[in-house]
Amino acid sequence: MEKKAVLGIIGCGLIARGMHFANAFSNPRIRVKWCCDLLDENLEYVKQNYTPERLTKDYIEVLDDPEIDGVMILTTHDVRLKLIRDAATRQKHIYVEKPMATDMREVYEIMKIIRETKVQLVVGFNRRCAPIVQDAIKILNEHRANPISPPWRYRRYADDDQEMKESKATMVLMRVNDDYKSFKSYAMDPYVGHGAIMGELCHFVDLAYKIIGCEPVKVYTEGWARLNQSIVLQFEDQSICTIVDAAVGSFDHPKELIEIYNNGMSMQLDFYLQLRVGGIESVQKIDYPFKEDMYPEITDGEGSMRLINKVIERNKRVTKSDELAYPVVDKGHYNLLDQFIDCILLGAKSPSNELDGARSALVTLKAVESARLGLPVKISVDEYDFMFKTHL
Ligand SMILES: NC(=O)c1ccc[n+]([C@@H]2O[C@H](COP(=O)([O-])OP(=O)(O)OC[C@H]3O[C@@H](n4cnc5c(N)ncnc54)[C@H](O)[C@@H]3O)[C@@H](O)[C@H]2O)c1
Repeated sequence: MEKKAVLGIIGCGLIARGMHFANAFSNPRIRVKWCCDLLDENLEYVKQNYTPERLTKDYIEVLDDPEIDGVMILTTHDVRLKLIRDAATRQKHIYVEKPMATDMREVYEIMKIIRETKVQLVVGFNRRCAPIVQDAIKILNEHRANPISPPWRYRRYADDDQEMKESKATMVLMRVNDDYKSFKSYAMDPYVGHGAIMGELCHFVDLAYKIIGCEPVKVYTEGWARLNQSIVLQFEDQSICTIVDAAVGSFDHPKELIEIYNNGMSMQLDFYLQLRVGGIESVQKIDYPFKEDMYPEITDGEGSMRLINKVIERNKRVTKSDELAYPVVDKGHYNLLDQFIDCILLGAKSPSNELDGARSALVTLKAVESARLGLPVKISVDEYDFMFKTHL
């Protein structure tokens, strides 16, 4: 029989219930031995709905179990450092939900602990592992390496072979349509959730780095740290990513749209359901299945239009809010957890390690600073070296 990784889950709240329990308990390479939470109701929920072997309110019990290979830390982000330290010093591998940390001192401590103990740390930047994102990055990188335009590309001058300096840069737009009424109150607490830039846009900052493939050098935010902001990020190679986060939107429409442009190529990542590609001869469109679909009879429309039609059907059936779930798209949570298991069982490299967690924390902190100042803020190379290299 294939060896299983033995896991403990610490923090059994919303994201555990909404995503990680189902993924962990259904993964054939995982044995969930412990579930731990401070609240009786959360322990009762997991006992009623899944098959944990042991339940506890004391995470040290989980960490002191010699059978445990790794832990998933799914607490809110104000209580990360101590849990990471206690797990790493007992040689337990760690999957920690994003953001990894909320200030640079904490970032520094976490990086030091992980590098000293040499355990694997996976930060929950699940979007990196969404099938549509992986396909888009592959197509982008192939195009960057070999930018051949299709014969139909519009050219003003037939003999024009001149390249503008900017032509190698990548332009990215990320639009997030969210509804703050759905947020848990901790998200907007300045000392727990730290607002949307730290708590939510850390995902998109990380994704921008992953897509563009070099370090960010400058950030400018208009708006507020808590809700509603537009962030412009500039990268080492002159690429730019604009993140528009509207917390005053509606779940009647899809949450995310990502657009990527590079050297005569355009791509739209339509809410994890459809990848549309322009400017490349070999691929125009790829469709992705829903991860969970409670409305399979609704098949009208493609991409997020189909999602909108399913949500219209959902809304007709809803009598009270929260009574009916929304269709679920694949944002990469299962794949990222599965790669954490590769780290444990096969010694694979972390798909989103402590440096990725650190970069995203640094940039989101700078984005908050920029929102407060009303000015662009530089991300200096010496900060990278001080924090992430020299002393570690
Ligand atoms: N990747 C994603 O898609 C995604 C989505 C939502 C939230 N998150 C992240 O997940 C984290 C948790 O968010 P949530 O909405 O589930 O929060 P939550 O408050 O619903 O759950 C956190 C749980 O941790 C428990 N907890 C706190 N300290 C503990 C301790 N010392 N020992 C054991 N349990 C402890 C709390 O009792 C609570 O039940 C946040 O950091 C958030 O940013 C990620």
